[in-house]
Amino acid sequence: MAEYNIAVIAGDGIGPEVTAEALKVVDATAETFGFKLKKTEYPFGSEHYLKTKEIFPDAAFEEVKGHDAIYLGAIGDPRLPVGLIEYGVIARMRFDLDLYINLRPIQLFDERLCPLKDKRPEDVDMVIIRENTEGAYAGMHGFAHKGQALEVATQTMVYTRQGVERAVRYAFDIARQRNKRKTVTLIDKANAVRAMDIWTRTFAIVAKDYPDIKTEHAYIDAACMWMIKNPEWFDVAVTPNLFGDIITDLGAMVQGGMGIAASGNIHPGRVSLFEPIHGSAPKHAGKNVASPVAAILAGSMMLNYLGEKEAGAAIENAVRGLFASGRLKGVSTGSHPTNEVGEMVIEEMRAATSA
Ligand code: IPM
Ligand code: MG
Repeated sequence: MAEYNIAVIAGDGIGPEVTAEALKVVDATAETFGFKLKKTEYPFGSEHYLKTKEIFPDAAFEEVKGHDAIYLGAIGDPRLPVGLIEYGVIARMRFDLDLYINLRPIQLFDERLCPLKDKRPEDVDMVIIRENTEGAYAGMHGFAHKGQALEVATQTMVYTRQGVERAVRYAFDIARQRNKRKTVTLIDKANAVRAMDIWTRTFAIVAKDYPDIKTEHAYIDAACMWMIKNPEWFDVAVTPNLFGDIITDLGAMVQGGMGIAASGNIHPGRVSLFEPIHGSAPKHAGKNVASPVAAILAGSMMLNYLGEKEAGAAIENAVRGLFASGRLKGVSTGSHPTNEVGEMVIEEMRAATSA
């Protein structure tokens, strides 16, 4: 029987609550589909930092690295300096494990979840490939005259030929695998941010290797407009780090809200990290009101990545079924007690697999 080692970082705020539901679901799926998950929990996050002043010690980082996958709930706390824990935990894993793909599917499970008029599930079904290790996130920044009237702050966007190419190639591969509209859209801002010309040129070169895949292009501002006006226009899109961060929150709303959007931070063939895209939502923490659907879907993405495709699909189908039948009312805060959703998904999944 296949066995997978999973490092779990439940994190802050609503992280632990939604993680508990996601793990319930993946465990039940393992039982149904005949594989094992061995989980090791790590305490890192803001609470742990406040208690111990420890962010993510090197020894623990090395240990986490040795797992088959990492599952993360959410991280961040307003009591700490902006970005301290985000950079020390999430970004550290993204950069030091070279998780160069941020895979963010945007799919509408049921018409009533969509805030846009007359959009149906077939209209909102796309995958955003966010380059995950470069751009404005590369960390090259500095200050001069700090704190004085003359202060200057700079941050350099970094794009490497290889970094761009591997993200673009991944997008073309996904478009081929999905076999839907067979289209990859490059989203950039090369008309104003001139260095993004490296994206334009690399995209054109890589596209030659995929004659079966159509190409499209949109500047990020226009892409935001299209996302609302005609989401059906997108199949697979590839975009630099910062734009990917922004447009996927927009996409999350189009698919029903932050409580539904999941992601994978991936280095194909290596240990990869799965997380809901929402944050720690401190004001809702500990009240049993946050929706764990995004966290559960991140679990499904993790199982797909581990090669347990049937199990991954079973979770996704169960969620779709619950929305379609109206048993899952939605993902807004308080729509269901957090700790009841996992069981609902498990029941639906079991009913479908025994039918
Ligand atoms: C995300 C988040 C992170 C990001 C934060 C927490 C640093 O918004 O995963 O989208 O900006 O990448
Ligand atoms: Mg974000």
